[in-house]
Amino acid sequence: MGSLDDIDDLRDWLALAEKLGEVRAVEGAHWDKEIGAVSQANYQRHDPPALLFDDIVGHRRGQRVLTASMSNARRLGMTLGLGTDLDDKALVEALRSKPGEWAANASRYPVREVATGPVAQNVLGPDDIDLLQFPVPLWHEADGGRYIGTGCAVFTTDPGTGVLNAGAYRMQVQNDGRAASINIEAGKHGAAHVREWFAREGRAPVTASLGHDPLLLVVAGTEVPAGTSELEYAGAVRGRPVDVVKGEVTGLPIPAGAEIAVEGWLRPGRREQEGPFGEWTGYYSGGAEPVLTLDVERVYFRDDPILLGAPPGKPPHDYSYMRSVMKSAMIQDALIRCGLPGVEGVWAHEAGGGRQLLAVAIDQRYAGHARQAGYLAAQLPAAAYMNKFVVVVDADVNPRSLSDVVWAMCTRTDPAEDIETLRKTWGSRVDPLRERDAPPFNSRAVIDACRPWSRLGSFPRVAEADPALLDQVVKRWPDVLGGPR
Ligand SMILES: Cc1cc2nc3c(=O)[nH]c(=O)nc-3n(C[C@H](O)[C@H](O)[C@H](O)COP(=O)(O)O)c2cc1C
Repeated sequence: MGSLDDIDDLRDWLALAEKLGEVRAVEGAHWDKEIGAVSQANYQRHDPPALLFDDIVGHRRGQRVLTASMSNARRLGMTLGLGTDLDDKALVEALRSKPGEWAANASRYPVREVATGPVAQNVLGPDDIDLLQFPVPLWHEADGGRYIGTGCAVFTTDPGTGVLNAGAYRMQVQNDGRAASINIEAGKHGAAHVREWFAREGRAPVTASLGHDPLLLVVAGTEVPAGTSELEYAGAVRGRPVDVVKGEVTGLPIPAGAEIAVEGWLRPGRREQEGPFGEWTGYYSGGAEPVLTLDVERVYFRDDPILLGAPPGKPPHDYSYMRSVMKSAMIQDALIRCGLPGVEGVWAHEAGGGRQLLAVAIDQRYAGHARQAGYLAAQLPAAAYMNKFVVVVDADVNPRSLSDVVWAMCTRTDPAEDIETLRKTWGSRVDPLRERDAPPFNSRAVIDACRPWSRLGSFPRVAEADPALLDQVVKRWPDVLGGPR
C-alpha cells in the first residue's frame, strides 16, 4: 500500500499517513479528559500531526483512538485524493467544482455488497453489548457523558425511495454501554428519514460506523445534496464503489472495512438525556435534552479497533480545518455559478468554525459589486446556516489571512457606511447568543472592506515592498529570511 488510489479503510489511510510522517503515537493517556486535552493542545499547534492513542488507561493495548485526522492540508489533500503537497489556497483550487462533480457522478458508483468483511471479525448480540469495552473518551470536562460517535457516519434510508443517507451526528453512550443517543438536528436529512419511518412503521432502522477512512467522515459531515447516497458519493471521490456488508438486524449497509459499527432501531418514545457537549461554536451551548436513543442490537468490530475521534470545541478543533476547506470551495463555486464576476478567493475561517466568518476577495468591477458579493455569500445555501460575518475584500488582500482581512476592515471600512445587517436569518440551536426557548434566528453583518468604488484610483498606496523586490531580497538572504516565499 502506498498511494492515494489504494485507500479503502482507516488502516490503509494510516499506513499512508505514517509513511508521510503525519502520525504521532501517544501512549498511556486516560480516556477520562486526557485524550481530549492532548488532542486540544495538538489542534492549537501550527500544522498539527494526526494523533494515534494506544495503551489507553484501563484498556487493552491495540484498542486505539485517532484524532486530528484531517487537521492539515497534507492529510486532507490525501484523504480527498487531491495530492499531498498543496497549501490551503491550492487545496481549495483543486477542490473547486469537485463536490458538484462527485454528486453528479455518485449514481455510477452503487455500493458493492460483500458477504463479509473485516468489520465482522467480531459480532456481539444484545446480551453481550457494552460500548464502554472500547476506550470511549470523555472529550471535554463538562460533557454530559462519553461520546463514542464524533467522527462517525450514521446511516438511514428514505423509506419511500430506499435512498441511503450518512450524517455525522454525535452519539453519546447511554445505559451503561447498552445504548447510544444520536443527536440529529432538525432539518438534517437523517432527521427527515427517521420522521418518515416513524410515521410509516413506528420505528426507524439505523446503522453507524465509528471508525473508517476519514473520507467517510468528510462526506457524512458535509452537506451532500438530499437524495444522493453519501456512500455512492464517496465511491465517486475514490473512483470505485464502497464495499459494504448487510446489517444482520436491519439490512442497512455497514462499510465492510469499518473499525466499529452498531446497529438497531430508533423508536419515537425512546429517549435519554443527552449533553451538554463542547460544541463547534466553542461553548457548551446546546445544553442537555432528551434525544432519540438506539438500543444497540449488534456491535461489529475489527480486531484491535480504532475509534475515529473528531471532537469539536473552541476552534481550532478537530474538524475546523476540514470544514474551512470544504466550505470555502463550495461557497466559491456557488458564487461563481450564480454569475458573480471577479471572485478571486473565499475562505471560511476556522475561528468561526468554518461557518460564522467568511472572507470573500473580489476584483471590483462596478459600483455595488462588493455589496452584491457580500449579500450573496451571506445567503447562499452552502453558507447561510449560522453565518454571522461576511467580509468582502479587494483582490490584493489574502482572504485566508485573518490579519490581512482585519487590516482591510480597519483601513477600508467606514463603519457608519460599510456595515450592513441582515436580521431573522438562519441561526442555530447551539448559538451561545440564542435566548432559551427562542427560535434559532440570528442576524449577520456584511462588512464591505473594499476600497471605496468612487476612490479606486486615488486611494492611498499600500506601504509595502514590490513583490519582485521581496522575492529578490529573500533569495539574497535566505538564511535570515527563511528561503523562498
Ligand atoms: C465531526 C462532526 C460532528 C457533527 N455533529 C453533528 C451533530 O451532532 N448533529 C448534527 O445534526 N450535525 C452534526 N454535524 C453536521 C452534520 O454532519 C452535517 O450537517 C451533515 O451534512 C449532515 O448530513 P445530512 O446533510 O445528510 O443530514 C457534525 C459534523 C461533523 C463533521
